[in-house]
Parts: sequence; structure tokens; C-alpha cells
Amino acid sequence: MENKKKFYITTPIYYPSGKFHIGTAYCTTLVDCIKRYKGARGYDAYMLTGLDEHGQKIQTVAEKQEKNPQEYVDGMAKKAIDLWKLMDIKYDDFIRTTDVRHVNAVKKIVQKYLDNGDIYKGEYEGWYCMPCENYFTETQLVDGKCPDCGREVKLMKEESYFFNMKKYENWLKDFYKENPDFIVPESRKNEIFKNFIDPGLEDLCISRSTFDWGIEMPNDPKHVLYVWLDALTNYITALGYGSDDETLFNKYWPADLHVVGKEIIRFHGIYWPIFIHALGLELPKKLYAHSWIVMKDGKMSKSVGNVIYPEALIERYGLDATKYYLLRLMSFAQDSMFTPEDFVERYNADLANDLGNLLNRTIGMINKYCGGIIPTNIKAETEYDTALRTFANEQITKVEEEMDSYHISNAIQEVWKYIARVNKYIDETAPWVLAKDESSYEKLESVMFNLAEALRKIAIMASPFIPNSSKEILKQLSINENDANWDNLRDYNTIKQNTKIVEKGTPLFVRLDKEEEIEYIKSQMQGK
Ligand code: MSP
Repeated sequence: MENKKKFYITTPIYYPSGKFHIGTAYCTTLVDCIKRYKGARGYDAYMLTGLDEHGQKIQTVAEKQEKNPQEYVDGMAKKAIDLWKLMDIKYDDFIRTTDVRHVNAVKKIVQKYLDNGDIYKGEYEGWYCMPCENYFTETQLVDGKCPDCGREVKLMKEESYFFNMKKYENWLKDFYKENPDFIVPESRKNEIFKNFIDPGLEDLCISRSTFDWGIEMPNDPKHVLYVWLDALTNYITALGYGSDDETLFNKYWPADLHVVGKEIIRFHGIYWPIFIHALGLELPKKLYAHSWIVMKDGKMSKSVGNVIYPEALIERYGLDATKYYLLRLMSFAQDSMFTPEDFVERYNADLANDLGNLLNRTIGMINKYCGGIIPTNIKAETEYDTALRTFANEQITKVEEEMDSYHISNAIQEVWKYIARVNKYIDETAPWVLAKDESSYEKLESVMFNLAEALRKIAIMASPFIPNSSKEILKQLSINENDANWDNLRDYNTIKQNTKIVEKGTPLFVRLDKEEEIEYIKSQMQGK
């Protein structure tokens, strides 16, 4: 246990400014899936998620609901925790920026910056985007609007504290020279270089005096910290950095992977490395900027009425189908479009047909031909067995490569290529023909063993994405979970003798009526 390699992975901490939609759910599912995979590969994986609870926008939303901000964020934190519970997210810690542990540590961090001369007082004038809580220079605006969200911006001026980013500009450039793969995909790194690093870093305004819902500057309480310094430091304060007990920090820092949406890569790719370096700490290992889920009519937005919430899908189609769809949908670097049509098609084709039927047919045949016992004493093989095994080994390696480089959708596709190959194996070997002739019985046994074994392998490889279905596959085949893990994934001798499977399988995924379900999902998207 002690010698396990650690893997510290984080989600962004989300703004609790409204109900969490499938975009947020996707990001959390992605991180959960990578955590599960790393755990399966023998790592001591530690996952952090949480909420970014300060700032003007939260204050405004709370006021609209006639609540004080703390009361409001308490309610939202409960909702987030309930959602992650519903989604069976295996996080190890949930940080809220209003947690006393965070507030105290942030004050210490800011004091350290003040002592080192990294922070100075100045006056800021710029174009402010309220929803993004971010200032922009004239040249950064796109068509006079916020470059991140496209909304209206306002010219504002205020006395503020600044973090001296310029001081670290050369260091940052050198860091990227030495760590060219720090950000994946590369296209995202290129964007921040082009737009922010190459033109020369601007110092970052880190405080506000126009609202008070935030952490007070330790030297000047009429200023509160502007959210990004407060927010980014969550990744270390959650581990106890700056507290009396830094055990977790010493164990898990530096982060192995920060997963963030592409719109916040600038904060994570420029300011975060500088904040960390200025504290004299080791840099995180990698940032993965994932792309966005988009809808037919563009970004998800309440005013367009095209927002979809995870609960709607989970309640009707189950957790695994929802997770599967999101992880399979999202490509590594490109935005991907959620459509009800695609959801239903994928459900029927990949889950109900390819995987569900494979399990059902296998269960049916082992019962019919082998009295419900998985044959293990194999005396003859069909000509197709070796090809299937070779293919399995190739696919396992591909799945591992894709997972190790966080190409999750690709990894899923490699698993499903294997599933398709196993289905083809049934057609090739035609067990119903073998069953007619007693002299082929030994071959028939081999086919039944190989099918059960293939499903064992599928259950292991699919466990990071659809953990409940993986368990159900093993349960129906009466295979002990200890005999189905990544360590024995390539083995062919783990199924115990006399394994008696269920007499009748329950379908993993029931086929959906296409038209009806497309309509249902559409109805759930109508402007909630
Ligand atoms: N609070 C900041 C993050 C601070 S991290 C130190 C923030 N919060 S947020 O609520 O706006 O959440 C942003 C994250 O939610 C994105 O980075 C992304 O991971 C996820 N998504 C929100 N909408 C999304 C889509 N439409 N598609 C995919 N992910 C999206 O920014």
C-alpha cells in the first residue's frame, strides 16, 4: 500500500451560480473515470472536486433569491454533493472556497506573496465581464464583447492589488520550453501563447473593493480577493497546504493532472504555474483542457432553452448509459454535439445491441449447451480462437495507450471494437452448428469458455466508464470481482472450475423506442 505510486487528479471547482448541467457532469465524470482507471492500474489515486463560492456573481444570485450568500452556497453545495452521489463519483475530497481551511490557507498564501513583493497596489481600468468576473483589455475583446463568453462588457476603474506576472514571464517561457507537453491538447497551448504569452504578460488584478463576498486581503480588509487567486489555490489548500497538517499535501502534491474546460486554460496555463512557482512549490505535471458539449443551436444556455441536466437522463436511461454517452461523445480536442437522436442511437447500437446482446447470447448458450457451467477444461480449439486472443491482446494495449494519454472516447471505441470482434466470433464459430454434432462438443466448450472470458475482459476494460454494468456482467457470469481486474486482464486462467452462471440473464440495457425517446429528451431540453 505504502509503495503505491500516487496520482492526484482534480476537476475545476464549479461556480454554484445555477443548476449543474451535463457540461459540469461530463467534466466530473471524466475525472472520475480517469481516477477509476488509475486506481485499477495500481495507483493510489486521489480525486478532488468542489465549488468556487465567492465573487460578485454569486452575491447577486443570492440576493435575487433573497438569501445571504453563505446560505445560498450552502444550499448549492448540498445539491452538488447530491448530484455526485447520484452519479457515483468517487471523489476523495470536496473543497468549498468558503471552508475555513481554505480561507485561512489563502490568507497565508497572499501574505507570503505580499512579503515577497509579488503583490502591489495599483489602479485598474478595463473592460469587465460580470458573468466571467474578469477584466479584459480593449484588444482582447472580440467584437467588443467578452472573448470567453461573448457577453457584454463594461468599462470599469478601481483601486486594486496586482500580482506581478511580468516578473515571471521569462520563467514561464522557460518552463514551457522544458515542458512542452504541459498542456494537452497542444492546440490549447498554442492559443494561450498566441493571445497572452507572446504579446507579453499583463499583471493580474487580484482584488476588488466593489463587493464584499470574498476572502479579505490580509493587509487591507476593504479589498476582497478576486476569484481566480482564491479559486486556483483550492488545489493545494484542500491538501492542507498552509495548515498545521500538511500530510496530504506532502503525499499528493504535485497534481498529476488538472482537468479543466478549454475556456479556463488561460488561468491554469499562465497564472496557476506562476502562483505555484512564486510559492516555491513543485509544478503540477499536466493540464488537460477538454472541449465543450454543444447543442444544435450552439452553446447550452437557459435563454435558448437547450440546457440538459444529468438527472433527466439518469432517471430514464440509468447512470451507466448517461456516463457512457458523455464519455463516448466527447472527442479529445474538438467540441462535440449532443443530440437526442445520437443519444438514442448510441444507446441502442452500442449498449443494447453490441454489449447487451453479447452478454445475453452468451448466458443463453452456456445454459443451453453446458448446463450453465462455464467450461474450463478445454481440450480442443476452433480455428477462430487464436485470432480472437491475438485481437484481445492488441485491443488491451490500445485501450491502455488511449487511457494513459486521456483519449477516453478513443479508448471506449477500442473496447467496442473488441466487443464487435467477439460478436463476429459467435458468427464464425456458429455454436448452434457445433452443438448438433457430438464430435464438435469439445470445440463448443472452447467457444463457450472464450465467450465468457471475453466478457470478463470487457467487464474489466469497461469498468472505468460503466462500472455498474461491469459488475453486472461479472455477476451474471458468477465471476468473482477479484478474478477480474487489470492485473489479470491478459490472463486466461482466472475463471474457476465449476462456475455456475445465472440461469436467465437480465438485459443490461433495454432497447429504446427511437421516436418516443427522442421526443422525451427533447421535452427535457425545453428551457428549464
Ligand atoms: N469556477 C471556475 C473554475 C475555477 S477552477 C480553479 C469556473 N466554474 S464553472 O462553473 O464555470 O465551470 C466551468 C467548468 O465546467 C468548465 O471548465 C468545464 O469543465 C465544465 N463545463 C461547463 N460547461 C461545459 C460544457 N458545455 N461542456 C463541457 N464542459 C463544460 O469556470
